[in-house]
Amino acid sequence: MIKNKRIGVFTSGGDSPGMNAAIRAVVRTAIFNNLEVIGIKRGFEGMIDNDMIEMNSQSVSNIIQRGGTILKTARSKKFITEEGMNMAAENLKKQNIEGLVALGGDGTFRGCFEFRMRHNISSIGVPCTIDNDLFGTDFTIGYDTAINTAMEAIDKIRDTADSHNRLFFIEVMGRDAGFIALRSGIGGGAEAILVPETKTDIPHLISILEKGWNRNKSSCIVVVAEGDESGGAYDIAKQVKEHFDYYDTRVSILGHMQRGGNPTCMDRVLASRLGVAAVEALIAGRENEMVGVIHRDIEFTPFEKATKHNLDINLNLLRIQEILAT
Ligand code: F6P
Repeated sequence: MIKNKRIGVFTSGGDSPGMNAAIRAVVRTAIFNNLEVIGIKRGFEGMIDNDMIEMNSQSVSNIIQRGGTILKTARSKKFITEEGMNMAAENLKKQNIEGLVALGGDGTFRGCFEFRMRHNISSIGVPCTIDNDLFGTDFTIGYDTAINTAMEAIDKIRDTADSHNRLFFIEVMGRDAGFIALRSGIGGGAEAILVPETKTDIPHLISILEKGWNRNKSSCIVVVAEGDESGGAYDIAKQVKEHFDYYDTRVSILGHMQRGGNPTCMDRVLASRLGVAAVEALIAGRENEMVGVIHRDIEFTPFEKATKHNLDINLNLLRIQEILAT
């Protein structure tokens, strides 16, 4: 339970579009409930360096539409050490911060869990990652924007691929998961989608592309998740290329453009809902949990569970893609 009426908010790990909308929701909900709110810069690094600022309603004006994070973010190696964690706890205590709202992914929540075990500092996590691979929520903040960014890029590449009769391998983000590849690939009408969750069958891929060629398709697009076990888009293109002397083959790596940009309405609303719920949860005395949305409702999942399990991709979407690409 928050007694001294002071909470902290920070963003940590890879940024994602919608983090600013979530910061805004946290700050305004705290103020609405007569709490003071401190913004901690650069995640756990800022806790260790005592890089914190007091926030008011105006500090979060005009940010709901902006990508990135006004609080900056980092992956902290120092926080994993006992010394780093002790320094962070000391600084939070000096600032009278009793509870934290942590915006990030599983690394962030693992850090929060350890912090609670060693220093009795409560936190509630808000899932922010473009990868959507967190257990305990149907969608993470940033995912919807990232899939739309990737899909728009696929559309643009389709225009040029079609004009030149080309086969394109487009690599999208997703170090451990195929969520971005799956949705952006279906939305972009890809001929094939390769994800880390399933074994990539190169002869099968070749037969799909051959079928396309035989049907006079003027372009083919294969969307590859960066974490696919058969290598990145360049490796897969190399393995497939020699079978298709009739297609001119190209590779395009979309990279970090997928992490930026104005969040979509879906991400802004999700961030607003989860930010409000996180502060209300801290006030109600909840801790050590991630807040998410499951089947439209707000649900809480203990950090231990959220970080141990992976959210599974919907394999049925892969089947749908195969049907629609024929
Ligand atoms: O935010 C998640 C993610 O986008 C992964 O899909 C990707 O592998 C990783 O971040 C890259 O992040 P960075 O360049 O910051 O290490």
